[in-house]
Amino acid sequence: MKIVTTIAEFRQVRRGYGFESVGFVPTMGYLHEGHLELIRRARTENERVVASIFVNPKQFSPTEDLSRYPRDLDRDFHMLAGENVDLVFVPSNEVMYPPDYQTTVSVSRVTQALEGLRRPTHFDGVTTVVAKLFNIVQPSRAYFGQKDAQQSVVIRQMVRDLNFDLEIVVCPTVRESDGLAMSSRNKYLTEDERKGATVLYKALQSAKSIWDGGTRNSGILRAAMMETLSEELLARVDYISAADPVTLEEWHGEIPRDSGLLLSMAVFFGQTRLIDNLLLE
Ligand code: PAJ
Repeated sequence: MKIVTTIAEFRQVRRGYGFESVGFVPTMGYLHEGHLELIRRARTENERVVASIFVNPKQFSPTEDLSRYPRDLDRDFHMLAGENVDLVFVPSNEVMYPPDYQTTVSVSRVTQALEGLRRPTHFDGVTTVVAKLFNIVQPSRAYFGQKDAQQSVVIRQMVRDLNFDLEIVVCPTVRESDGLAMSSRNKYLTEDERKGATVLYKALQSAKSIWDGGTRNSGILRAAMMETLSEELLARVDYISAADPVTLEEWHGEIPRDSGLLLSMAVFFGQTRLIDNLLLE
Protein backbone atom coordinates (compact mmCIF):
# COMPACT_ATOMS: atom_id res chain seq x y z
CA MET A 1 0.00 0.00 0.00
CA LYS A 2 1.42 3.36 -1.03
CA ILE A 3 0.80 6.45 1.08
CA VAL A 4 1.26 9.84 -0.58
CA THR A 5 0.80 13.37 0.71
CA THR A 6 1.24 15.57 -2.38
CA ILE A 7 -0.81 15.88 -5.58
CA ALA A 8 2.28 15.44 -7.77
CA GLU A 9 3.17 12.13 -6.09
CA PHE A 10 -0.46 11.01 -6.30
CA ARG A 11 -0.66 11.73 -10.03
CA GLN A 12 2.57 9.87 -10.67
CA VAL A 13 1.29 6.69 -8.99
CA ARG A 14 -2.18 7.12 -10.56
CA ARG A 15 -0.67 7.32 -14.07
CA GLY A 16 0.80 3.85 -13.51
CA TYR A 17 -2.76 2.45 -13.23
CA GLY A 18 -3.38 3.32 -16.91
CA PHE A 19 -6.86 2.19 -17.97
CA GLU A 20 -7.48 0.01 -14.88
CA SER A 21 -10.70 0.85 -13.02
CA VAL A 22 -10.22 2.85 -9.83
CA GLY A 23 -12.62 2.75 -6.87
CA PHE A 24 -12.31 5.73 -4.51
CA VAL A 25 -13.38 6.07 -0.87
CA PRO A 26 -12.99 9.59 0.55
CA THR A 27 -12.88 9.77 4.37
CA MET A 28 -11.93 12.02 7.26
CA GLY A 29 -10.13 9.13 8.97
CA TYR A 30 -10.56 7.57 12.40
CA LEU A 31 -11.89 4.62 10.44
CA HIS A 32 -14.51 2.12 11.55
CA GLU A 33 -16.44 -0.77 10.00
CA GLY A 34 -18.70 1.67 8.13
CA HIS A 35 -15.68 3.02 6.22
CA LEU A 36 -14.27 -0.49 5.75
CA GLU A 37 -17.50 -1.72 4.14
CA LEU A 38 -17.12 1.03 1.51
CA ILE A 39 -13.53 -0.09 0.92
CA ARG A 40 -14.58 -3.75 0.61
CA ARG A 41 -17.30 -2.88 -1.89
CA ALA A 42 -14.78 -0.81 -3.88
CA ARG A 43 -12.34 -3.74 -3.72
CA THR A 44 -14.88 -6.14 -5.30
CA GLU A 45 -15.83 -3.73 -8.11
CA ASN A 46 -12.50 -2.22 -9.20
CA GLU A 47 -8.98 -3.21 -10.17
CA ARG A 48 -7.48 -0.48 -7.97
CA VAL A 49 -8.71 0.99 -4.70
CA VAL A 50 -7.79 4.47 -3.51
CA ALA A 51 -8.75 5.99 -0.15
CA SER A 52 -8.22 9.52 1.11
CA ILE A 53 -7.94 10.77 4.67
CA PHE A 54 -8.44 14.50 5.09
CA VAL A 55 -10.23 16.29 7.92
CA ASN A 56 -11.64 19.02 5.71
CA PRO A 57 -11.72 22.31 7.64
CA LYS A 58 -14.13 23.90 5.11
CA GLN A 59 -17.01 21.63 6.14
CA PHE A 60 -16.81 22.55 9.84
CA SER A 61 -18.31 25.82 11.09
CA PRO A 62 -16.30 27.84 13.66
CA THR A 63 -18.51 26.45 16.46
CA GLU A 64 -18.08 22.80 15.42
CA ASP A 65 -15.60 20.11 16.43
CA LEU A 66 -12.73 20.53 13.90
CA SER A 67 -9.91 20.80 16.44
CA ARG A 68 -11.12 17.87 18.54
CA TYR A 69 -12.17 15.66 15.61
CA PRO A 70 -10.61 12.25 16.43
CA ARG A 71 -7.46 11.33 14.51
CA ASP A 72 -5.26 8.21 14.48
CA LEU A 73 -3.42 7.88 11.17
CA ASP A 74 -1.30 4.85 12.13
CA ARG A 75 -4.38 2.88 13.08
CA ASP A 76 -6.13 4.01 9.86
CA PHE A 77 -3.17 2.93 7.67
CA HIS A 78 -3.13 -0.45 9.38
CA MET A 79 -6.85 -0.95 8.72
CA LEU A 80 -6.56 0.15 5.08
CA ALA A 81 -3.56 -2.12 4.45
CA GLY A 82 -5.65 -4.99 5.88
CA GLU A 83 -8.24 -4.36 3.15
CA ASN A 84 -5.69 -4.41 0.32
CA VAL A 85 -6.00 -0.73 -0.51
CA ASP A 86 -3.54 0.24 -3.26
CA LEU A 87 -3.06 3.92 -2.53
CA VAL A 88 -3.89 6.34 0.28
CA PHE A 89 -3.92 10.10 -0.24
CA VAL A 90 -3.31 12.06 2.96
CA PRO A 91 -2.94 15.73 2.02
CA SER A 92 -2.21 18.54 4.45
CA ASN A 93 -4.43 21.64 4.65
CA GLU A 94 -1.75 23.54 2.68
CA VAL A 95 -1.84 20.99 -0.16
CA MET A 96 -5.64 21.20 -0.44
CA TYR A 97 -6.04 24.92 0.31
CA PRO A 98 -2.86 26.86 -0.43
CA PRO A 99 -2.86 30.50 0.74
CA ASP A 100 -4.13 31.73 -2.64
CA TYR A 101 -7.11 29.31 -2.70
CA GLN A 102 -10.34 31.05 -3.89
CA THR A 103 -12.93 28.61 -5.31
CA THR A 104 -16.11 27.14 -3.78
CA VAL A 105 -18.32 24.49 -5.37
CA SER A 106 -21.92 24.98 -4.26
CA VAL A 107 -25.03 22.91 -4.97
CA SER A 108 -28.14 25.02 -4.46
CA ARG A 109 -31.49 23.27 -3.89
CA VAL A 110 -30.88 19.92 -2.19
CA THR A 111 -28.56 21.62 0.30
CA GLN A 112 -31.42 23.85 1.54
CA ALA A 113 -33.02 21.20 3.79
CA LEU A 114 -32.25 18.94 6.76
CA GLU A 115 -28.54 19.22 7.64
CA GLY A 116 -28.11 22.24 5.36
CA LEU A 117 -30.57 24.29 7.42
CA ARG A 118 -28.69 23.63 10.66
CA ARG A 119 -25.19 23.71 9.15
CA PRO A 120 -25.47 26.42 6.44
CA THR A 121 -21.85 26.29 5.20
CA HIS A 122 -21.31 22.55 5.62
CA PHE A 123 -22.24 21.24 2.16
CA ASP A 124 -20.25 23.91 0.31
CA GLY A 125 -17.26 22.55 2.20
CA VAL A 126 -18.14 18.97 1.30
CA THR A 127 -18.76 19.60 -2.42
CA THR A 128 -15.65 21.76 -2.73
CA VAL A 129 -13.35 19.14 -1.24
CA VAL A 130 -15.01 16.20 -3.01
CA ALA A 131 -14.80 18.00 -6.39
CA LYS A 132 -11.10 18.60 -5.78
CA LEU A 133 -10.56 14.97 -4.72
CA PHE A 134 -12.42 13.70 -7.82
CA ASN A 135 -10.18 15.83 -10.03
CA ILE A 136 -7.05 14.58 -8.29
CA VAL A 137 -8.03 10.89 -8.00
CA GLN A 138 -9.91 10.54 -11.33
CA PRO A 139 -11.87 7.53 -10.07
CA SER A 140 -14.14 5.23 -12.10
CA ARG A 141 -16.42 4.84 -9.08
CA ALA A 142 -16.69 6.67 -5.76
CA TYR A 143 -18.25 5.12 -2.64
CA PHE A 144 -20.36 6.91 -0.04
CA GLY A 145 -22.43 5.77 2.94
CA GLN A 146 -26.22 5.97 3.34
CA LYS A 147 -25.39 7.10 6.93
CA ASP A 148 -24.94 10.60 5.45
CA ALA A 149 -28.02 10.42 3.23
CA GLN A 150 -28.11 14.09 2.26
CA GLN A 151 -24.39 14.13 1.50
CA SER A 152 -24.90 11.33 -1.04
CA VAL A 153 -27.81 13.19 -2.66
CA VAL A 154 -25.79 16.43 -2.83
CA ILE A 155 -22.76 14.69 -4.35
CA ARG A 156 -24.85 12.86 -6.94
CA GLN A 157 -26.32 16.24 -7.92
CA MET A 158 -22.85 17.80 -8.22
CA VAL A 159 -21.63 14.88 -10.35
CA ARG A 160 -24.60 15.30 -12.71
CA ASP A 161 -24.36 19.08 -12.85
CA LEU A 162 -20.59 19.26 -13.41
CA ASN A 163 -20.36 16.17 -15.66
CA PHE A 164 -17.86 14.25 -13.56
CA ASP A 165 -17.15 11.04 -15.48
CA LEU A 166 -17.66 8.56 -12.65
CA GLU A 167 -20.29 6.46 -10.93
CA ILE A 168 -21.48 7.19 -7.38
CA VAL A 169 -22.17 4.07 -5.30
CA VAL A 170 -24.10 4.48 -2.02
CA CYS A 171 -23.63 1.66 0.52
CA PRO A 172 -25.90 0.69 3.46
CA THR A 173 -25.37 2.11 6.94
CA VAL A 174 -23.25 -0.15 9.16
CA ARG A 175 -24.55 -0.36 12.74
CA GLU A 176 -23.35 -1.58 16.11
CA SER A 177 -25.15 -4.70 17.38
CA ASP A 178 -27.58 -2.49 19.37
CA GLY A 179 -28.52 -0.45 16.27
CA LEU A 180 -26.36 2.66 16.78
CA ALA A 181 -24.97 3.78 13.41
CA MET A 182 -21.18 3.66 13.42
CA SER A 183 -19.58 7.11 13.45
CA SER A 184 -16.19 8.56 14.32
CA ARG A 185 -18.13 10.93 16.61
CA ASN A 186 -19.49 8.08 18.79
CA LYS A 187 -16.13 8.24 20.55
CA TYR A 188 -17.22 11.52 22.21
CA LEU A 189 -20.13 9.85 24.05
CA THR A 190 -19.94 9.09 27.77
CA GLU A 191 -21.01 5.62 28.86
CA ASP A 192 -24.54 6.78 29.70
CA GLU A 193 -24.84 8.77 26.48
CA ARG A 194 -23.65 5.77 24.47
CA LYS A 195 -26.41 3.65 26.04
CA GLY A 196 -29.00 6.36 25.37
CA ALA A 197 -27.83 6.83 21.78
CA THR A 198 -29.61 3.65 20.68
CA VAL A 199 -32.78 5.75 20.84
CA LEU A 200 -32.12 7.14 17.31
CA TYR A 201 -32.40 3.71 15.74
CA LYS A 202 -35.36 2.85 17.97
CA ALA A 203 -37.15 6.01 16.84
CA LEU A 204 -36.53 5.17 13.17
CA GLN A 205 -37.83 1.64 13.76
CA SER A 206 -40.96 2.90 15.52
CA ALA A 207 -41.82 5.02 12.46
CA LYS A 208 -40.95 2.16 10.12
CA SER A 209 -43.36 -0.23 11.85
CA ILE A 210 -46.15 2.33 11.42
CA TRP A 211 -45.18 2.80 7.75
CA ASP A 212 -45.12 -0.99 7.27
CA GLY A 213 -48.62 -1.06 8.78
CA GLY A 214 -49.76 1.15 5.90
CA THR A 215 -49.80 4.62 7.49
CA ARG A 216 -48.77 7.31 4.98
CA ASN A 217 -49.41 10.38 7.16
CA SER A 218 -46.09 12.20 7.58
CA GLY A 219 -47.23 13.95 10.79
CA ILE A 220 -48.01 10.61 12.45
CA LEU A 221 -44.61 9.23 11.40
CA ARG A 222 -42.76 12.27 12.80
CA ALA A 223 -44.80 12.09 16.02
CA ALA A 224 -43.87 8.41 16.45
CA MET A 225 -40.14 9.27 16.17
CA MET A 226 -40.56 12.21 18.55
CA GLU A 227 -42.36 10.11 21.13
CA THR A 228 -39.61 7.47 21.17
CA LEU A 229 -36.86 10.11 21.36
CA SER A 230 -38.60 11.90 24.25
CA GLU A 231 -38.29 8.73 26.36
CA GLU A 232 -34.49 9.22 26.48
CA LEU A 233 -33.70 12.00 28.95
CA LEU A 234 -30.13 12.58 27.69
CA ALA A 235 -31.33 13.16 24.11
CA ARG A 236 -31.96 16.71 22.87
CA VAL A 237 -33.64 16.67 19.47
CA ASP A 238 -32.21 19.05 16.83
CA TYR A 239 -34.66 17.97 14.12
CA ILE A 240 -36.71 15.03 12.94
CA SER A 241 -37.82 14.75 9.37
CA ALA A 242 -40.02 12.74 7.02
CA ALA A 243 -38.93 13.92 3.57
CA ASP A 244 -38.98 13.03 -0.11
CA PRO A 245 -35.76 11.03 -0.70
CA VAL A 246 -35.17 12.69 -4.09
CA THR A 247 -35.88 16.39 -3.45
CA LEU A 248 -35.35 16.19 0.35
CA GLU A 249 -38.43 18.40 0.76
CA GLU A 250 -40.41 17.76 3.93
CA TRP A 251 -43.64 15.84 3.45
CA HIS A 252 -46.75 17.45 4.90
CA GLY A 253 -49.94 15.43 5.41
CA GLU A 254 -50.35 12.28 3.32
CA ILE A 255 -47.35 10.90 1.41
CA PRO A 256 -48.36 9.95 -2.15
CA ARG A 257 -48.58 6.16 -2.69
CA ASP A 258 -45.81 5.98 -5.32
CA SER A 259 -43.33 8.12 -3.33
CA GLY A 260 -40.50 7.01 -1.09
CA LEU A 261 -39.70 8.35 2.33
CA LEU A 262 -36.48 9.41 3.98
CA LEU A 263 -36.83 9.41 7.77
CA SER A 264 -33.96 11.32 9.34
CA MET A 265 -32.92 13.07 12.53
CA ALA A 266 -30.17 14.88 14.36
CA VAL A 267 -29.99 14.50 18.14
CA PHE A 268 -27.61 16.05 20.65
CA PHE A 269 -26.13 14.09 23.54
CA GLY A 270 -24.32 16.79 25.49
CA GLN A 271 -22.14 18.54 22.88
CA THR A 272 -22.15 15.53 20.56
CA ARG A 273 -24.50 15.72 17.59
CA LEU A 274 -25.56 12.37 16.11
CA ILE A 275 -27.43 11.85 12.83
CA ASP A 276 -29.23 8.80 11.49
CA ASN A 277 -31.76 7.95 8.80
CA LEU A 278 -33.81 5.21 7.21
CA LEU A 279 -34.86 5.06 3.58
CA LEU A 280 -38.30 3.52 2.97
CA GLU A 281 -39.51 2.73 -0.51
P1 PAJ B 1 -16.50 10.54 7.00
O1 PAJ B 1 -17.44 10.99 8.04
O2 PAJ B 1 -15.15 10.05 7.40
O3 PAJ B 1 -17.22 9.40 6.17
C1 PAJ B 1 -16.61 8.85 5.02
C2 PAJ B 1 -17.64 7.98 4.32
O4 PAJ B 1 -18.02 6.91 5.18
C3 PAJ B 1 -18.92 8.76 3.98
O5 PAJ B 1 -19.37 8.39 2.68
C4 PAJ B 1 -19.88 8.28 5.05
O6 PAJ B 1 -21.24 8.33 4.65
C5 PAJ B 1 -19.43 6.84 5.23
N1 PAJ B 1 -19.86 6.31 6.53
C6 PAJ B 1 -19.67 6.86 7.76
N2 PAJ B 1 -20.26 6.11 8.71
C7 PAJ B 1 -20.86 5.07 8.06
C8 PAJ B 1 -21.62 3.95 8.49
N3 PAJ B 1 -21.92 3.73 9.77
N4 PAJ B 1 -22.07 3.08 7.55
C9 PAJ B 1 -21.79 3.30 6.24
N5 PAJ B 1 -21.07 4.32 5.77
C10 PAJ B 1 -20.60 5.19 6.67
O7 PAJ B 1 -18.33 11.91 5.08
C11 PAJ B 1 -17.20 12.36 5.21
O8 PAJ B 1 -16.22 11.72 5.95
C12 PAJ B 1 -16.75 13.65 4.56
O9 PAJ B 1 -17.85 14.51 4.45
C13 PAJ B 1 -16.11 13.44 3.15
C14 PAJ B 1 -17.09 12.82 2.16
C15 PAJ B 1 -14.86 12.56 3.28
C16 PAJ B 1 -15.67 14.82 2.59
O10 PAJ B 1 -14.80 15.46 3.46
